[in-house]
Amino acid sequence: MSALLEVKGLGKTFGGRSRLSLGRGKVVTKAVDDVSFTVTKGRSVAVVGESGAGKSTVGRLVLRLIEPDEGTITFDGVDLRAQSAEGMRQMRRRMQMVFQDPYSCLNPRMSIADSIAEPLVVHDLAGRAERDAKVAEMLDRVGLGSRFARRFPVELSGGQLQRVAIARALIVEPDFVVCDEPTAALDVSVQAQVLELLTQMQSELGLALLFITHHLALVEVIADDVLVMKRGRVVEQGPVTEVLRRPREEYTRDLLAAVPSPIPRVLREGQPLTAT
Ligand SMILES: Nc1ncnc2c1ncn2[C@@H]1O[C@H](COP(=O)(O)OP(=O)(O)OP(=O)(O)O)[C@@H](O)[C@H]1O
Ligand SMILES: [Mg+2]
Repeated sequence: MSALLEVKGLGKTFGGRSRLSLGRGKVVTKAVDDVSFTVTKGRSVAVVGESGAGKSTVGRLVLRLIEPDEGTITFDGVDLRAQSAEGMRQMRRRMQMVFQDPYSCLNPRMSIADSIAEPLVVHDLAGRAERDAKVAEMLDRVGLGSRFARRFPVELSGGQLQRVAIARALIVEPDFVVCDEPTAALDVSVQAQVLELLTQMQSELGLALLFITHHLALVEVIADDVLVMKRGRVVEQGPVTEVLRRPREEYTRDLLAAVPSPIPRVLREGQPLTAT
């Protein structure tokens, strides 16, 4: 299978360019340091690691929401770093993002239907009637239904809002979605439902995912491959089955030991896909 996203030697330093002690001992650390990985069409790669490891920065860099200092990002054969603003705008239709806090990425004054339709308007993808039909279809697909169309974010629960955020990301029919801890802010029972929605959407739509999480237990459920990050660097990477069953690094073993989670069990037992 061919690579959809190919990342090589990705690097980003905030507030400076290298790991140096500047002036009065101010230390600049590389948030992301020489990170390389591939995401194949329709497959899912998880990024795990402790807080501050650089996971979110990797997610933002590959979509060029922040500019890399180093490395190459190739999406479906296109060199993303060589794209103009307009070129990137066009590529972004195919590369979407779902964040941890759905409320913060929805406009509180926009109805749910308008929020879901907005990316279609931005990318000029459909006329009004077609837009309405697509929104209705997405509302069904994410398990909300048309009764949510005219509601506003404040009237919805966290899990329902995350479904709206997922609908918004998927309505433009992307090939690739970065999910940055999409269930971390939700109650445990709702986490399992949102996760199941994502995996279901992934297989139905043939999406490639970059799934960022603290939670190593989720990785087995969602991902084919995993990158384990520590202080900006990848310390271990490979197929989930190998990395989780036979972690080579002490750091990965510690992460594994720290996550007794009910989520995979809940998922395996097949919770109904209802919107809470
Ligand atoms: N905009 C920014 N400006 C300055 N430093 C930043 C910025 N974004 C991230 N950093 C720093 O880069 C490092 C990596 O941060 P990042 O948010 O990518 O980690 P993370 O693995 O996503 O952590 P968490 O699990 O807490 O979300 C941290 O040291 C962080 O403080
Ligand atoms: Mg993060």
